[in-house]
Amino acid sequence: MNLETTYLGLTLAHPVIASASPLSATLDGIRRLEDAGAAAIVTASLFEEELVAEEQALEAAMIIGAESHPEVTSYLPPLCGCRSPLAGHLETIRRAAESVRVPLIASLSATTREGWIGMAADLQAAGAAAIELNLFHVPTDPAEAAADVERRLIDTVRDVRGAVDIPLAVKLGPYFSALPHLAAMLADAGANGIVLFNRFYEPDIDLEAMAFRPTLELSTPKDSRLALMWIALLAGRTPLSLAAAGGVEEANEVVKYLLAGADAVQTASALLRHGPGHLVQLVKGLAEWLEAHGAASVAEIRGRMSAHRLARPEVLLRAQHTPALLLECPCQDMALGASGR
Ligand SMILES: Cc1cc2nc3c(=O)[nH]c(=O)nc-3n(C[C@H](O)[C@H](O)[C@H](O)COP(=O)(O)O)c2cc1C
Repeated sequence: MNLETTYLGLTLAHPVIASASPLSATLDGIRRLEDAGAAAIVTASLFEEELVAEEQALEAAMIIGAESHPEVTSYLPPLCGCRSPLAGHLETIRRAAESVRVPLIASLSATTREGWIGMAADLQAAGAAAIELNLFHVPTDPAEAAADVERRLIDTVRDVRGAVDIPLAVKLGPYFSALPHLAAMLADAGANGIVLFNRFYEPDIDLEAMAFRPTLELSTPKDSRLALMWIALLAGRTPLSLAAAGGVEEANEVVKYLLAGADAVQTASALLRHGPGHLVQLVKGLAEWLEAHGAASVAEIRGRMSAHRLARPEVLLRAQHTPALLLECPCQDMALGASGR
C-alpha cells in the first residue's frame, strides 16, 4: 500500500500531519508525535504578541529586582545576557529539526511587518522545513473593507516570501467571501499551500459571572464539513497544496478529505483527546479503507470527489435548505408536517 503524498513540495510517508497545538510546543512533545507516526509536525505557533509581552514582563521583573536591594545587580545577569523567549523558541525548533526525521513545519503568528519577516527568517535559519503562517485579524474598523483585509494578508505573504526560500503554507480562518480569488492571490504572492481552516476561540457568556469566557471545545467530525466543501471546490483548480484541518476524529474523516482533494490532513483535537498514539489508528484506518475499496495508493483516491470530477458538482453549491433539498432529506416528513402539507 502506497500512502505517500506530496505537500508543499515535501514528500510525506502518508498524509496525516500533527497540527499546531500544545502537543507540538516542546521538544519532547514533537518527538512523541514523531514516534507516534506523524508524517510531518506543525509546531505550536510562535506568537509575536506573546513574545513582546513576555519580554516586557522579564525586563520589568529585572528592573524591580535590581531596585529592591543595592546588591541585587551583582548577581542578576545583565539584561542583554538573558535568553529571550524568542531565543528559547528558536532553540526548540533547532533541536527538534535536528532530531526528528519528518518535516518540521514552524507555525508563525506575528503582528508587525518586521515580526513576520524577521521571525520567518529566524525559523528558516533554525532548520524548519517549511513555515505555516497563522494569519488572523478581526476587522472591527468600519472603515476597513474586506479587500483591505485580504490585501494585508497577501502583502504579508509577499514580504515573508522575500525573506525565506523554504515552502510557505497559509493557514486561513473560514471567514472569507471569495476564497478561490484569495487562493489565486496567495499563490501569486509566493505561497505554496493553504490550510483550511483554522479554528478560533469563540468566547461564550457566563450568565452568572456576566462575563465573556474563553471556551476550549475540541472539534468533532461535523466540524469538518466547511473545509470538506472548500477543499472539494478548490482541488484541481489551484496550484496551491491543500491541507485540510478540522474535525478529524477517525480515519473516515481523513479519507473524506483526501477524496475531496486534500494533499495532507492535519489533526489537533483528536490527538489532544486521545493522545499522540491515536495517529497510528488514523493511518492504519486509512490503509484499511484503501484496501477494502480496492485502491493501491492515496494518489488513486485523492480528488476523486472534487468538484471538477463530480457529475453533479452543484451539490456542493447548495447553500440554502431549499424545498427541493428537503425532498432528498430524511427529515422530509417532519418538514412536510410542519408546513401542513
Ligand atoms: C488547544 C489548541 C491549541 C492550538 N494552538 C494552535 C496554534 O498555536 N497555532 C495554530 O495555527 N493553530 C492552533 N490550534 C488550531 C489547530 O492547529 C487546528 O487547526 C484546529 O484545532 C482544527 O483542527 P482540529 O479540529 O483537528 O482540532 C490549536 C488548537 C487547539 C485545540
